[in-house]
Amino acid sequence: MLGLNLICRNFSTSIARAAIKNVVVVGGGLMGSGIAQVAAQTGHNVTIVEINKDILDKTEKSIQTSIQRVAKKVYKEKPQDGEKFVSETLSRISSSTNLPDVVQDCDLVLEAIVENLSIKHKLFQSIDSVAPAKTIFASNTSSLSIGEIASVTNRKDRFAGLHFFNPVPVMKLLEVVRIPETSDETYESLMAWAKAIGKTAITCKDTPGFVVNRLLVPLLAEAVRLMERGDASPRDIDIAMKLGAGHPMGPIELADYVGLDTTNFILKGWNEKYPENPLFKPCSSLEKLVSEKKFGVKSGEGFYNYKK
Ligand code: 3HC
Repeated sequence: MLGLNLICRNFSTSIARAAIKNVVVVGGGLMGSGIAQVAAQTGHNVTIVEINKDILDKTEKSIQTSIQRVAKKVYKEKPQDGEKFVSETLSRISSSTNLPDVVQDCDLVLEAIVENLSIKHKLFQSIDSVAPAKTIFASNTSSLSIGEIASVTNRKDRFAGLHFFNPVPVMKLLEVVRIPETSDETYESLMAWAKAIGKTAITCKDTPGFVVNRLLVPLLAEAVRLMERGDASPRDIDIAMKLGAGHPMGPIELADYVGLDTTNFILKGWNEKYPENPLFKPCSSLEKLVSEKKFGVKSGEGFYNYKK
């Protein structure tokens, strides 16, 4: 009996471990480019899809800068190996503006586009009948429900959340989010892929913010509220959390780093869904900066000024 159990377990493991090799990343922004880079760095073939060539050119440049940073660090003593690493990684990345065209032979489609449910629906609907049956669909959403995104597809068993962290090449965590329909095979494949790309995976149910953002976003908002009340200056709040709690960045500078638009969007979305939760209350200074297009590091100004 024990022997049979072992055989069955081994058999199911071998089904579960259908390796992900060809990946399509939709969205070439900060997260999409980081995900594409990390996947290519670890030997996967990656196609990045964007809406136009100009954005793809920017994505390519940002990957080149970031991969060179990694090469400099990893191949400090052997710059020639570093150059080889860069050129081999870049050779595994291609780009396209035609999503249905490039999903024909891929194992995983991972979207990292704008946080808009109907746009995400359109995206997955456009490829659901075109992509091979084996293809897993995943979303890198930071705040929307994976179940709601998956609802328009006929492959909910092959659908999950894969939530990465900024900067993707540096942050070691990957949250793998299961919806009730996600099959064990899909889940196992994604956990194996997380390992293959050098990340440590944790599993979470499809709950708002998963683990990290559910804890981090209220922390950022609470820091902003502290500042709004005049209890401490932004700089002192940041120093306090760096030196007093060992965080690599203080919460105000982290909000700037994540993007004030993103932080505000997450907070507002949760507040609309859960108006009774005081942790999700919008912050007026955050809303003001966003309305002035001061999004933090990426726009050159947020709570701090980065233009100097
Ligand atoms: N690409 C490649 N390498 C990078 C990089 C990038 N984009 N950014 C930083 N690095 C590397 C650098 O090469 C450097 O390596 P080295 O130390 O060997 O030279 C190392 O990372 C540290 O970078 P820096 O020296 O420039 O700066 P810091 O030491 O201050 O570290 C940081 C920068 C890694 C961003 C650190 O401050 C940090 O960990 N901050 C917290 C980030 C965080 O919390 N991220 C999660 C945000 S939440 C999120 O993303 C979820 C979303 O849904 C909102």
